[in-house]
Amino acid sequence: MKPKARVQFSAQKIEALQLRRQKILTALDGGLLLAASRPNFHKYDSHYFRYRQDPNFYYLSGLYTEDEGVVLLSASDGRLQSLLFVADRDFASEIWNGPMVGLDGASALGFDAVHSLDDLAKILPDLMQKASVLYTDRQNHRGVERILDDIVFKQRIIFDGLEVRDYWGFLGDFRLIKDAYEIDLMHTANQISAAAHKRCMQDASVSMTELELQALLELEMKIGGSPYTAYHSIVASGSNSCCLHYNVNSCALESGDLVLIDAGCAYEGYASDITRTWPVDGKFSAEQKVIYEIVLKTQKHIINMVKPGARIPELQEATIRMLTQELIDAAVISISMEEARKNDTFKAWYPHGVSHWLGLNVHDAGRYVVNGERRAFEPGMVITVEPGIYIQPDSPFTDSRWHGIGIRIEDDILVTAEGFRNLTDCPKEIEELEALRSV
Ligand code: GLY
Ligand code: MN
Ligand code: MN
Repeated sequence: MKPKARVQFSAQKIEALQLRRQKILTALDGGLLLAASRPNFHKYDSHYFRYRQDPNFYYLSGLYTEDEGVVLLSASDGRLQSLLFVADRDFASEIWNGPMVGLDGASALGFDAVHSLDDLAKILPDLMQKASVLYTDRQNHRGVERILDDIVFKQRIIFDGLEVRDYWGFLGDFRLIKDAYEIDLMHTANQISAAAHKRCMQDASVSMTELELQALLELEMKIGGSPYTAYHSIVASGSNSCCLHYNVNSCALESGDLVLIDAGCAYEGYASDITRTWPVDGKFSAEQKVIYEIVLKTQKHIINMVKPGARIPELQEATIRMLTQELIDAAVISISMEEARKNDTFKAWYPHGVSHWLGLNVHDAGRYVVNGERRAFEPGMVITVEPGIYIQPDSPFTDSRWHGIGIRIEDDILVTAEGFRNLTDCPKEIEELEALRSV
């Protein structure tokens, strides 16, 4: 019998990787950038749990499962070079842990050279001697710390004038602008997640627990081709939906509940982040409908504000004003806008931000503030738009009939030259949700 195929790298992926490395090399201005794979911390007792790659190493290498690898981008010594160091294939290890990419497999990835990991100690010090800056992740990344400490610094070489800088700002700004290949992947991640949300809307019942619903959601993601969730799925019924990062997922669904699911798969490493809220009985109560309509109207309004040049604080300000004014107009709360704004009182029903960058990380890399100014949107950025209203079960601001209603609606939005493209195609109109629950 023939062995099953190893991981294949598509021509489109290799081209995207080469282009992004070239752009970064050009910006390095004589410096070096070193990114290491995440060490495999996932061993417990004698077993491994699912490994998650370091997103920066993955962004530069395209390798998702190799837990021993280093990318070195070098503009040192007058030439631009992209180098990959990986562990040699170890046939004994492969019997236990499966196939390794090895030097041969990695040679398809379009680097200028692929070396064995052992060569890093020979090549890196010389390039460091000639560079003025080394961008890396030494503070937060045990993999890099180990490499620099064990391989380089313990050799007691003095690197005169070499400044070691954290790369999150530098590299994050590249990651923030997605290329066409990444946008395709993020769109696919959204399609898979939307199908999973829809499956839950259709198949939930009051006899189920939140945990069963989570299983159904994640089954659909796996069937769709994504083995990973982008974060722990939030499946919250009834008043649990008022807890923003609820993840116990242990209660039974009860008649009259709203179900809030905030969940997305990671497809080829790229996150989706979708929230939908719907009635388990298939019909919103009068109070649930009032709050839902406010959140939906606000979400559509904020999405329409997305365009190049707009900024997150403008979206946040408009969200606070609109949610609060609508709650006042619907007589859900009986305080004035001024009182709601004073001491951030509105945080009692809207305590979070409306948007964040999205990409390889759910809260993606890339600076939010540049030269002291909040960053303006540019084509190629992907953001979330996620307003919500949460009337806590003991809220002093409303009558008790509103208590325990928590609603968030979240879509993933690509900034385009013309404005925006909504990557999330998942039911959110009241009529759609009620119709889905009744089939
Ligand atoms: N799922 C986390 C968030 O929406 O930011
Ligand atoms: Mn989000
Ligand atoms: Mn979310």
